[in-house]
Amino acid sequence: MARGKFITLEGPEGAGKSTHLSRLAEALRARGIEVLTTREPGGTPLCEAVRGILQFNAAGEAPQTRAEVLLFLASRAQLVAQVIEPALARGTWVLCDRFCDSTFAYQGYGRGLELAQLHALNAFATAGLMPDLTLLLDIPEAESARRLAERKGPADRFEQEQAAFHRRLAEGFREMAAAEPARFRVIDSSGSEAQTAEQILAAVESFT
Ligand code: TMP
Repeated sequence: MARGKFITLEGPEGAGKSTHLSRLAEALRARGIEVLTTREPGGTPLCEAVRGILQFNAAGEAPQTRAEVLLFLASRAQLVAQVIEPALARGTWVLCDRFCDSTFAYQGYGRGLELAQLHALNAFATAGLMPDLTLLLDIPEAESARRLAERKGPADRFEQEQAAFHRRLAEGFREMAAAEPARFRVIDSSGSEAQTAEQILAAVESFT
């Protein structure tokens, strides 16, 4: 049995990752591929509990920057060992809503932690697993802000951050994509949902 492919979707807030993750999963299943979808942080009961702590201070206390990154990585270590690796090993493709590049973008470019340290910590958490393909859904800053403002429900700790934080991480994503063109495909997500879905499918087909 050939190992499954590991595809991650990344991007700033409001880029449409979750919608497109579901659409891509359906399109691949229609081609007879077995697909598992998951998200970060989250995807197992333990990881979903960590998500609540990270996004909405579920523990009643905001994590410090270093604690924040370790919580994201604890969630990733659990998800990789418990869900992602076993699925890939049995030939299932895994589509994950955010993964290591969100740590580099948010905690590195956004919070200012050293990228080399984050790479080393991430490699420990994932036991070296990296995505085969990363789709960066890119949108202009103004469009991201507009989509965020339209969202219902309370804004989480990251959505509440200042515009400068969001600008730094969006630029970080673009910089990482340019530095690693073999793994990344940049998708312009500012058009209609159908246009974006078409670009995503073309990118996945050209990769496989
Ligand atoms: P979202 O997946 O619903 O966008 O929420 C996850 C939030 O957590 C989002 O604001 C990005 C942030 N995040 C990090 O800061 N670092 C990480 O490593 C990951 C996976 C997410």
